[in-house]
Amino acid sequence: MKINTKIFTAAISLSVALFSAQNGNVQKHFLDLDGTSTNIKIQSTMYGIFFEDINFAADGGLYAELIKNRSFEFDEPLTGWKQPNTKTLSPNLDSGFLTIITDRSKTNKNYARITVWNDKNYVLENEGFRGIGLHQGEKYDLSFNLENVSGNISAINTSLIDENGTVISSVSTIIKGGGWQKYNAVFAPAKTVEKTKLQITFTGKGIVNMDMISLFPQDTWKGRKGGLRKDLVQKLYDLQPGFLRFPGGCIVEGRTLAERYQWKKTVGKTEDRENLINKWNNGFSHRLTPDYWQSFGLGFFEYFQLAEDLGAEPLPILSCGMACQFNTAELVKMEDLDPYVQDALDLIEFANGDAHTKWGKIRVEMGHPKPFNMKFIGVGNEQWGADYIERYKVFEKAIHAKYPDIKIISGSGPSPDGEFFDYGWKELKKLKAQIVDEHYYNSPEWFLKNAGRYDNYDRSGPKVFAGEYAAQSVGVVKPDNKNNWLTALSEAAFMTGLERNADVVTMTSYAPLFAHADGWQWTPDLIWFNNLKSYATPNYYVQKLFSNNKGTDLIKISENGKPLKGENNLYASAVRDNKKGETIIKIVNTNPLETLVEINPKNIKLNNDVTKIILTSPGLSDENNFQTETIKPIEETHSLKNGKISVGIPANSLIVLKIK
Ligand code: AHR
Repeated sequence: MKINTKIFTAAISLSVALFSAQNGNVQKHFLDLDGTSTNIKIQSTMYGIFFEDINFAADGGLYAELIKNRSFEFDEPLTGWKQPNTKTLSPNLDSGFLTIITDRSKTNKNYARITVWNDKNYVLENEGFRGIGLHQGEKYDLSFNLENVSGNISAINTSLIDENGTVISSVSTIIKGGGWQKYNAVFAPAKTVEKTKLQITFTGKGIVNMDMISLFPQDTWKGRKGGLRKDLVQKLYDLQPGFLRFPGGCIVEGRTLAERYQWKKTVGKTEDRENLINKWNNGFSHRLTPDYWQSFGLGFFEYFQLAEDLGAEPLPILSCGMACQFNTAELVKMEDLDPYVQDALDLIEFANGDAHTKWGKIRVEMGHPKPFNMKFIGVGNEQWGADYIERYKVFEKAIHAKYPDIKIISGSGPSPDGEFFDYGWKELKKLKAQIVDEHYYNSPEWFLKNAGRYDNYDRSGPKVFAGEYAAQSVGVVKPDNKNNWLTALSEAAFMTGLERNADVVTMTSYAPLFAHADGWQWTPDLIWFNNLKSYATPNYYVQKLFSNNKGTDLIKISENGKPLKGENNLYASAVRDNKKGETIIKIVNTNPLETLVEINPKNIKLNNDVTKIILTSPGLSDENNFQTETIKPIEETHSLKNGKISVGIPANSLIVLKIK
């Protein structure tokens, strides 16, 4: 396993130095836990989820559709499709051929016209998203729209075929009548296969038009037809997230303004949602993904519904009229900003309005009569400079004039410090912004050093949303970055600092969330998946331990009256959960040897039983993978000794102590 040796050595040498300073004795630390109320509430939104359609997170991932480019809408309309027996694109009497018919008045403007001259020979195939994964014993719904134009085509024969050409499952659909009709069939594969393809053949000769050729597992999250991949949503659910931020990320901004995310185009009938190139399609020259588009099958309605399923606050982020400043940095003129602002106002109406409102009615018609109770909105993603502040002001005025209770997230740019960051914060403070989004993709060392980052933040200024962060084992946007234990441990140490400052930091989320093992552009990521399985990284388990144990009220844990933020390589935070009647202590030990702590509780009555959850791994470069999650929490029980909590904290570990 490869790790960044520089960071690794720095972290280790720091620890070793400390250890030697202690003459080789196991360190013992005496901590004080003060149960007196700090009057600081841990917000329910403290630990949330950042979702962006990057790394095949939506199409090819969470959105369970298995056919890529199902309606021939990519700018290369045959992306994902093959006609193996059609030798040229020109008419071929030996088999048949396909042409794309375009109706520019429609949002789903393309369909395939298929001419079959020799039904023994003509074959059309779809490769799926790096293959089509099938689980034995599960059922898969195939559907397609077909218009019988001429000739005598009487059946469409569809098979799922593995990489050796073996048919895993097949089904025929009888074609009857004229006009566009929707046809359905069900596959029941007798074998589990990670990479199959869909093969379509025809019985009879003639011409048919086909569109929306779609394949979904029946076993989706909550069994919804055309829904979300169950194992992936389950992992999100298990995090017990306080919010779901969507749909990104830079994807909100787009490379150009025309390619920005426009939520109105993602609601209503799925097949009418206009496809759009994904910003990450050619985002990085080292990870080009020319077959990456957005079908918007997972659109804004589905995001709100997902947030509801997860018990999380929905947090949509919208374009503020600035295309990605790393790309074209295209700007909407101030006098043309109105439609962008209107999108934000209409979105609030879509989420919260009743059936008598224009946009509320659409939500009701889509099957959700109750409002989604949206409370937050983000204006822009990772914007910076005076252009942003100027635009933010217009949004803020309009949103709060109509919806004074909606909380607005503003941005401080892509870095956690520097000119843009300082300018953004200074201006946003003057404007009394409510919540400012900060992003940090940095080395594990940075995370360890910054556990005290928020200790001196202005308590009367805007709240902080640590909206995107992840320790990078090699460097930002480096393809060799790994979700190794060192990155997760450093994030855990940093997170004790977020929690200790819960009066300032009210929302946090790791980013990015998902990555397809064969289709990713950005690493590291919280959850990795392929066409069959997914696994949780050590970083995921860190998030889960904090989120599942966030408590309701902050209390103090200290050593010699000082917070633990890295001195002696120890980091700690403590909360009470007034609903569960629990005291919860999180301690991170980045020493390379076990450290003993004796915690003396004051002003708090504790039961005798201590649950100790340990997350650790012998090597800092260790990782989880599809075969095994070796790094995951294990639980032990202990008892108080003389009213004190005495526990060992293994080398390089996060422990969570829970006492009733
Ligand atoms: O998380 C990946 C990208 O990092 C996000 O799209 C963007 O906001 C940040 O630069």
